[in-house]
Amino acid sequence: MNQAEVREFFDGWATYEAILDQEAMHHTAFFAAAASALARDLGARPLAVLDLGCGSAHHAARLLHGRPITAYAGYDLSATALAAARTSLTAAGIRADLRAEDLRQGLEGPPDSVDLILCSYALHHLETAGKGAALAAARRRLRPGGRMLLIDLAREAAETRAVTTEAYASWVEREWTFLPTEAHREIRAHVLAHDFPEDDATLLRLARETGWAEPERLARERWHRAWWLRPGD
Ligand SMILES: C[S@@+](CC[C@H](N)C(=O)[O-])C[C@H]1O[C@@H](n2cnc3c(N)ncnc32)[C@H](O)[C@@H]1O
Repeated sequence: MNQAEVREFFDGWATYEAILDQEAMHHTAFFAAAASALARDLGARPLAVLDLGCGSAHHAARLLHGRPITAYAGYDLSATALAAARTSLTAAGIRADLRAEDLRQGLEGPPDSVDLILCSYALHHLETAGKGAALAAARRRLRPGGRMLLIDLAREAAETRAVTTEAYASWVEREWTFLPTEAHREIRAHVLAHDFPEDDATLLRLARETGWAEPERLARERWHRAWWLRPGD
């Protein structure tokens, strides 16, 4: 991953804000499914939250609003996104520790210290080994009984990364007509250079190998997935 290029892309946050507004990546539906899983599994438990690649934390803030949040740490490369995160989280009454750092820094914190890890559309910027290392570190950071929400892009097992990223970029150009041509050009360049979606089987294997129980798939829309992870026995 070229950090500077990823940061530069997301510093143009207006494009991503439009994607969120249009529900083009299914955030509202996926976070609604996560809210049900969270209520089911963690009830009213006070939560120390780690948000990896938090972006504007728009949906995270809505998910956590009204819950007892003992700590929220958000990591993102983009200072523009973090400024928006500050606004979303403050409006939800959440005191946040926001860091303009690589999400892997957030995973280096103390073990057994977090109740909920959020990682929405950020992990696919890492290559396969990096995803495995991140999942292992996330597992170490989680307290017993904690959970991880992993929302991300996926590819079909039969397709190469090049085929999937080309198909995704073309789909964006066809379907996301609310964006100007220049934004389509930037998204295509970003997707082809920096997106590394895994197929479902690889992601499940990485989770198993790093100490998680079989992930629960909460939702699926074409290339988009929401997974709910709990520690393995
Ligand atoms: C597609 S946005 C998702 C933002 C938010 N989680 C959401 O779902 O709306 C991806 C975010 O991950 C951040 N990001 C990508 N790679 C990262 C890394 N290695 N460390 C920290 N943040 C990263 C980007 O800056 C961007 O804000």
